[in-house]
Amino acid sequence: MKLVSKEPSARLSESVLLAVFVTEGSAPALPRGVVVAKHAFDDLKGEFREVRLTDTVQGPLRRVLVIGLGKKEALDAEKLRRAAAIAVQRAESSSAPSVTIHVDREILKHVGDEVAGVALAEGATLGSYRFEAHKSKPKEAKLKTVTIVGAGRVFQAGVKKGRVLAEANTFVRDLQNRPGNKMTPRDLAAAAKSLVKSGRITCRVFDEGAMKRMKMGLLLGVAQGSREKPRLIHLVYRPAGRTRGKIALVGKGLTFDAGGISLKPSSKMDEMRFDMSGGAAVLGVFRALRELDVPFEVHGVVPTTENLPGGAATKPGDIHVAMNGTTVEVLNTDAEGRLILADALCYTVAKIKPDTIIDLATLTGAVVTALGHELSGLFASSDKLRDELVEAGKETGELLWPLPLLDYHKEQMKGLFADLKNISGGDMGAGSSAGAAFLAPFVGNTDWAHLDIAGTAWGGSNRDWVGGSLGSGVGTRLLVRYLESRR
Ligand code: BES
Ligand code: ZN
Ligand code: ZN
Repeated sequence: MKLVSKEPSARLSESVLLAVFVTEGSAPALPRGVVVAKHAFDDLKGEFREVRLTDTVQGPLRRVLVIGLGKKEALDAEKLRRAAAIAVQRAESSSAPSVTIHVDREILKHVGDEVAGVALAEGATLGSYRFEAHKSKPKEAKLKTVTIVGAGRVFQAGVKKGRVLAEANTFVRDLQNRPGNKMTPRDLAAAAKSLVKSGRITCRVFDEGAMKRMKMGLLLGVAQGSREKPRLIHLVYRPAGRTRGKIALVGKGLTFDAGGISLKPSSKMDEMRFDMSGGAAVLGVFRALRELDVPFEVHGVVPTTENLPGGAATKPGDIHVAMNGTTVEVLNTDAEGRLILADALCYTVAKIKPDTIIDLATLTGAVVTALGHELSGLFASSDKLRDELVEAGKETGELLWPLPLLDYHKEQMKGLFADLKNISGGDMGAGSSAGAAFLAPFVGNTDWAHLDIAGTAWGGSNRDWVGGSLGSGVGTRLLVRYLESRR
């Protein structure tokens, strides 16, 4: 699908379906020359997600689609994203080859020109996302072109940026949706390398030999049950101008998590293809940074492996040694994400020395119990980092909810036979805090946030542009927004 943006002065061509928005209590504003039957919209209330498709009686087009936005006072970016997604989905289902989304000034004024442009481009692109990579006869989309019409340079720039962000998100979804045999650690590393661009983005991939030399015993311990070899991906983005600081993004890249010897139940185990969603989201940020400028040096670190049972696999009770010398009892081999992240954090602290670390991981089932599928769990070592991330999440529609990490939780992760154990004692509960507490000592004093995206990486309720059983691409747009707005 091609997405273009135009000024309202542009001529409408006859082949298109026109989509316009309407808020509650007002009449749809049609572009000049477009006429529909007199009472066509009489019973239209303009409620959010209300839809009318009607024929024109005069003018250059055949049909007009009107989509309700609800109350004007409650209008925001999320509603525009959803409305644009509905527009493209209706266009597709009515077999239109192209749709022109016309946004009038009133709406732009209310939401802000750039924000509206971004949201509409995101909604249109993400609403038409499909994953047909493994169908022998992929269905072709009928909708080929989406044109977004609105006034002003700022709006046009917003549309352009929204397209970049949405394409980064679909890049992530494509990585997520591939099953374990089509998205191995090697494949994920190849995807990272494909992002390298003109010196501004570079990528190094460390293999098993390099991990052994760096003494990454935890990452190697998870990988040892698998025939696919692990990788450690390190991407770097350098800004064109002056750098305001160094930020590291670390993502869990488990391309399939069977649980290891602590084997998971078979029901829905296929969903553990998504256990690389944190890593994919980090790659997605670099996909966007190919085309955007942010004033920070950004590092992306993604440890990637499978977690399988087998004769060589780590056994419950086995002790492995992290890159920084910390010894760890692996009491449950299914709590593997924190193990590979721990070595990745050691690497990040020792080799990159960033000002801030943000990690993303499908870390615990407990966060799904606590927050469901619409909010990610957030642990942050500073209020500033917490607030800026929460704010970015509100803006991108990828909500975060702060969760507690106390010294008490960290205490529970002390081992009996080694320094740490990878699960807490039987009666502590607070499984997501335990995961964060395990990671905490590996970041030392660095400003740090941990995002548990186990609930949001897939399986959310339908929000038109996102939701359902496919990967959501959560995290990428959020982090880019954070990088743009960080003070
Ligand atoms: N990848 C899982 C977490 C997960 C579960 C993500 C469900 C999405 C949906 C993680 O590796 C895991 O298995 N965690 C265990 C930890 C436990 C053994 C302490 C869990 O949450 O059950
Ligand atoms: Zn696991
Ligand atoms: Zn896992």
